Amino acid sequence: MRILTGLQPSGKLHVGNYFGAMEPAVNLQEKGEAFYFIANYHAMTTVRNPDELREFTRELAVDFLACGLDPERAVFFRQSDVPEVNELAWILSTVCPVSMLEKAHSYKDKTAKGISPNHGLFAYPVLMAADILLYDSNLVPVGKDQKQHLEMTRDLAGKVNEAYGEGTLVVPEPMIREGVAVVPGLDGQKMSKSYGNTLPLFGDEKPSKKLIMRIVTDSTPVEDPKPVDGSLILPLFRLFADDEAYRRMEEDHRNGGCGYGDFKKRLAEAYWDYFEPMRRRRTELLADPGYVDSVLAAGAEKARNAASLVMDRVRKAVGLA
Ligand code: TYM
Repeated sequence: MRILTGLQPSGKLHVGNYFGAMEPAVNLQEKGEAFYFIANYHAMTTVRNPDELREFTRELAVDFLACGLDPERAVFFRQSDVPEVNELAWILSTVCPVSMLEKAHSYKDKTAKGISPNHGLFAYPVLMAADILLYDSNLVPVGKDQKQHLEMTRDLAGKVNEAYGEGTLVVPEPMIREGVAVVPGLDGQKMSKSYGNTLPLFGDEKPSKKLIMRIVTDSTPVEDPKPVDGSLILPLFRLFADDEAYRRMEEDHRNGGCGYGDFKKRLAEAYWDYFEPMRRRRTELLADPGYVDSVLAAGAEKARNAASLVMDRVRKAVGLA
């Protein structure tokens, strides 16, 4: 079984990226052949500064390794190191109805916000489908916001197989974990860079904890019970706390006698402690840039080999070879 996922280097990683994609990817790397990549072509739809793109790419590499990606088990590479992905994207674009792309949520959301729609943004799902199909991927762990993109990928693979023969492309399955499919942000909406409501995966201690202390709560007096449904604190605490600590927190909400300040402090501590081992590993990796470069170089070679096998098959099927 081949497992594949990608993350965009478009800024600092956040807790939603971790629980939605990175943690499942790390857990799955022992279950099959894992291909994990840094979607730097995709990030170009929002990052226009070349130094920034390089820096975000390197940071993502370090952060994913710090979170437990094991380069002995997983092939870890930069999307742009396998330019064949653009060739497959072109082939897919010739079977892709414009109406399918016009329905894409992420495109509609961005244009609704007034972002001027360039072709890269419009064709984003086609390139994402190529990312997945180029490696004969079977399983794709992602957060729920990528569900529609996975449906489009399956549709496009189906259209190619219909036109050029079954087995030309492998149709993948998404893996979206209940409970962390949508990690909420500090304001209760989906945690997202574009909403400015994120909790960083590897931020500095004081500013990160301060973000938690600023979560908006209601004005229930300290001694009164606090609402459990609709709480902004509990669903985040669930991610970081063990069962016993979580049970106590919920009980303290129901019983009253504890203030929101206390709840936020507990959340801030649990969050900070949860990522402590990864933070330590990250510091080591930052001190060894040569190692990170060598991982990405080895990953690029393996990914390219795998991609060329698939492209040979596809080129023959469509009549290019
Ligand atoms: P990106 O970079 O926006 O996000 C990376 C991963 O994090 C997940 N995620 C979340 N999961 C749960 N709760 C949240 N609040 C949350 N926010 C983000 C995303 O669902 C994603 O899994 N288009 C992709 C990158 C990509 C890709 C691919 C992924 C390009 N090609 C091929 C898989 C396969 C994206 O923008 O992810």
